[in-house]
Amino acid sequence: MTTQQYWRIDVPLAERSYQVVIGSGVRHTLADVVAGLGVRRVVVVSARPAEWVPDPGVPFVVEPARDGEPDKTLASVERLCRRFAAFGLTRADAVVAVGGGSTTDMAGLAAALYHRGTPVVHLPTTLLAQVDASVGGKTAVNLPDGKNLVGTYWQPAAVLCDTDYLSTLPRRELIGGYGEIARCHFIGAGDLRELELGEQIAASVRLKASVVSRDERDSGLRHTLNYGHTLGHALERATDFALSHGEAVAVGTVFAGQLAGALGRIGAARVAEHTTVVRHYGLPTALPSGVAAHELISLMRRDKKAENGLTFVLDSGKGVGLVPDVPEEVVAATLAAMPRQSPADITHEGDAHA
Ligand code: GLY
Repeated sequence: MTTQQYWRIDVPLAERSYQVVIGSGVRHTLADVVAGLGVRRVVVVSARPAEWVPDPGVPFVVEPARDGEPDKTLASVERLCRRFAAFGLTRADAVVAVGGGSTTDMAGLAAALYHRGTPVVHLPTTLLAQVDASVGGKTAVNLPDGKNLVGTYWQPAAVLCDTDYLSTLPRRELIGGYGEIARCHFIGAGDLRELELGEQIAASVRLKASVVSRDERDSGLRHTLNYGHTLGHALERATDFALSHGEAVAVGTVFAGQLAGALGRIGAARVAEHTTVVRHYGLPTALPSGVAAHELISLMRRDKKAENGLTFVLDSGKGVGLVPDVPEEVVAATLAAMPRQSPADITHEGDAHA
């Protein structure tokens, strides 16, 4: 580890505590991490080519995976578990997941279920997975009925966020990751815009670690991490995932600012700051044309947080909190006041700014 800069962030969860290490080349510390766990063998579930899979320093096999929602299924979990069994993996061994959030979610669930819980080390390779998905122990797969409907909490034993992986990402995928960084501006991380990318990832992970350590199982505070996600999830579904998660969360973040303004929770300057910050990261700020407001409202009513009517995580200028029972007419008026753009333009906006 020469003079290279690394960020080490603790996720304090008593006996389930672990570290997230961020920086260029940190994947090569995998063998030290595995040795520290006292693990004898490893199955590496990888969505990246062999040259991006570091040596875990113990006997291992690589099981190929594919990033993306279609492979995030119970059938994939069964395939992985059978591979673990064929290799003779035990609870004293470990799973290593190398890939984007869909791969760490799916391999994390397989690890959680196999032998009722096998350690997992995540090496997230996308910006989205580094700043959000791989940290905090949420694992899941999809059902035909919806996204992430089957899962559990299974904290990783360690997370290695190697920023070298990010150089391999398509530009749109990288820019999408900034959607999760942009929302951190409004939920306690402060202004990250002038920081280098490693610092931005570290600040986002630090914020997430502090929230997860106080509300591991999403009973309240952890909802604040879903700032911008209520509309974001609705936009993903209404556009049949033509908008990526990061793009949808970006538009959702702008909307969250507008809605907080309409409810008198924040002033005009703070509302405008939402658009400025999202735009700074090269992300879209307009709703896609062709998506009806009533469809978005009906999707938002089905949000997991929406136990009491339309529910949003909103800014008050002094912090964010869950706001239930937001009147539908205010939501509709706020949606109506937002600019519209064709989905094709939205998904190319990142190119113009990167
Ligand atoms: N992505 C939000 C959470 O982990 O709670």
